[in-house]
Amino acid sequence: MAKYNVYDCSIIELSKHHSDRKGNISVVQNCETVPFNVKRVYYLYDVPGGESRGAHAHKDLSALIIAVSGSFRVTLDDGIVKRSFILNRPYQGLYVKPGIWRDLDDFSSGAVCLVLASEVYQPEDYIRDYDVFLEYRKE
Ligand code: TYD
Repeated sequence: MAKYNVYDCSIIELSKHHSDRKGNISVVQNCETVPFNVKRVYYLYDVPGGESRGAHAHKDLSALIIAVSGSFRVTLDDGIVKRSFILNRPYQGLYVKPGIWRDLDDFSSGAVCLVLASEVYQPEDYIRDYDVFLEYRKE
């Protein structure tokens, strides 16, 4: 099966409903804003400065990653090309397709990383060893 590369992953602009006096709302709708069914939502927070997260790929899972507060960097890697995105706008999401390694770092103080995932938590869907990932990409 053909595998996705980092250029298949991109920033999705979310709707932003602005009210001068009351602030903003951004919305993600199942199968509409994102082309998958959201089965799980989780978020990273209180990440100490200098720490990194991620360091894995998924075989089948797609994700939309949103900096709902603060900022951080996401580096995507398809085994050949790496692409970094600074996420710092709550009305943008990074759509990450299956089979892509991701590293998250440079978390600002108070950053919250919201992840909408296409699958429930399945440890067997993870590739956490980079050499295994490179082999998987060659298959
Ligand atoms: P992990 O995937 O290593 O976090 P990250 O990739 O963001 O650094 O997950 C950290 C811990 O949380 C690990 O023990 C597994 C657990 N976990 C769940 O139990 N369910 C989940 O949906 C997620 C994302 C993690």
